Amino acid sequence: MPASHEVSARKSLRAPIGTRDVLWPESERWEALVAAFARRARLAGYGLLLTPVLEDAGLFRCAVGDESEVLRKEMYELTDRGGRTLALRPEGTAPVVRAFVQHRPPVPWKVWYVTPAFRYERPQAGRYRQHHQVGVEALGSDDPDLDVEVIALAAGFYVELGLVGVDLSLGSMGCSADRRAYVSALREHLAERREMLCDEHRERFELNPLRVLDCKRSQCVAVTADAPTISDFLDEPCATHLARVREGLDALGIAHRLDSRLVRGLDYYTRTTFEFSAVALDAAQNAVGGGGRYDKLSEAIGGPPTPGIGFGIGIERLLLACDAEGCFNAAPSAPDVFVVDTTGGAAARDLSAELRGAGLTALRAYDDRSIRAQLKLADRSRASYAAIVGPREIEDQTVTVRSLREGKQTTVRREELAEWLRRELLD
Ligand code: HAM
Repeated sequence: MPASHEVSARKSLRAPIGTRDVLWPESERWEALVAAFARRARLAGYGLLLTPVLEDAGLFRCAVGDESEVLRKEMYELTDRGGRTLALRPEGTAPVVRAFVQHRPPVPWKVWYVTPAFRYERPQAGRYRQHHQVGVEALGSDDPDLDVEVIALAAGFYVELGLVGVDLSLGSMGCSADRRAYVSALREHLAERREMLCDEHRERFELNPLRVLDCKRSQCVAVTADAPTISDFLDEPCATHLARVREGLDALGIAHRLDSRLVRGLDYYTRTTFEFSAVALDAAQNAVGGGGRYDKLSEAIGGPPTPGIGFGIGIERLLLACDAEGCFNAAPSAPDVFVVDTTGGAAARDLSAELRGAGLTALRAYDDRSIRAQLKLADRSRASYAAIVGPREIEDQTVTVRSLREGKQTTVRREELAEWLRRELLD
C-alpha cells in the first residue's frame, strides 16, 4: 500500500511547470515537421545523430561558458547515485562535439538531431523549461560556403513550412584575438558609464560585457547605443570570411541583415553567428532558430582542433509562428478503412492485421460493440471506408465495403479487398 501522502501526490500529478504533453492530433504536426526537416537534412548529406539527454555537467561548463545565462541560472544539474555530476542537456551542440571528440569520425562530419533541451527559465508563451529543437552541426571545415549551406538549410525549411515573415540577422564574433580586443574595448566603454547601467549589469558587466548588449532594460539599451561594435575589430581573415558568407547568401537569394550587435546566449561562438526571428511573434520570444561557428569548441573540451558550425530551431516557437501566420496546419491524416465485425471480433482481428500488412491504415472497434456503435466509431474516425464482415460475408468469403463519404455500398471478394481499396483510395 502506498503511504497516504503518496496517494494525494498522485491525485495531483501533472507535467512539471514549464513542460507540456503533446497529444495527438497535435503530435501529428510534430511528426510532419520532423519528417520535413529530416528529409531536407538528408538531401544536404546530414545523418541522424542520437546522444544521451544526460551528459557530464563539466561538458557544458567548458562549452557554453561559466558566465552564460544558460549555465549560471538555467542548467538542470543532478548528482547520480555514483556521485557523478550530470546535467540535462540545455542545448544540442556541446553533446555533438563531445560525440565527435569521443568517436573521431572522418570529417566533414555532418549530423542532424531532434532533441529536448532543458533550461530553468521563467515559463511563458514560447519559453519553456523543456523545449525541443531540430538542428544540424557540421564539423571539420571552416569554408564559408559551409556557413552558407547551413544557413540555407534552415532558411529553406521555414519556407517549406509556409512561413513568410522570418528575418535573418547575421553577425560575426571574429576570432579569439578579435573578440578579446573587442570585449576589452566594450568593457572600458561600460566602465565609464557604470552608474547608468541596470542594477544587474552594474554589478556583473565586467565578467561578460557582451551580455549587456543583449539586455532589454532601457538603461543598458541607452548605454550600449554608442558602444563600439565588433565589426570594427574583425581581422582581415574574419572580415573576408564574413564577406564571403554574405556573397553566398546573396547568390542563393537569402535576404539577411548585418547585425554587428548580434549576441548569442552561448559563449562558444567564433566568426559567423546568425538568428532567425519570426515577425509574427512577440519580440521577447521571437527567435525561431539560431546558430553559428564554434571553431574552438572541440579544443575547449579536449579534442583536436576542428572547426564547426550549426544551428538549432525551437519546435514549439516555430509552431507558434506557423499558428500566427496560419500556415503548416498539417491536418491529421484520416485512416483508410475501419473494419466492422458483427461476428464477435475474430474477423476484425484478422482482417485489420491483413490490411495493415498490405500497407493500409486500418482501424477497428473492440469489446464486441453493436454494429451501430461500430459504424458510429468508423464515422468519427473519418475513415474513407468501412469494411463490414458479418456471418454472410464469412460464409461467402466477401466483405461489404461502404464508402463513408458517399454512403455507397458494394461487395468485394475478401482476397481482393486490399487491392480494391488501394485502387479506390488512389482515385
Ligand atoms: P539557442 O539560440 O539557445 O541556440 O536555441 C536555439 C533555438 O531554440 C532558439 O532560437 C529558440 O527557437 C529555441 N529555444 C531556446 N530556448 C527556448 C525555450 N526556453 N523555450 C522554447 N524555445 C527555446 C542553441 O541552443 C545552439 N545550440 C544552437 C547552435 C547549434 N549553435 C550552433 N549549433
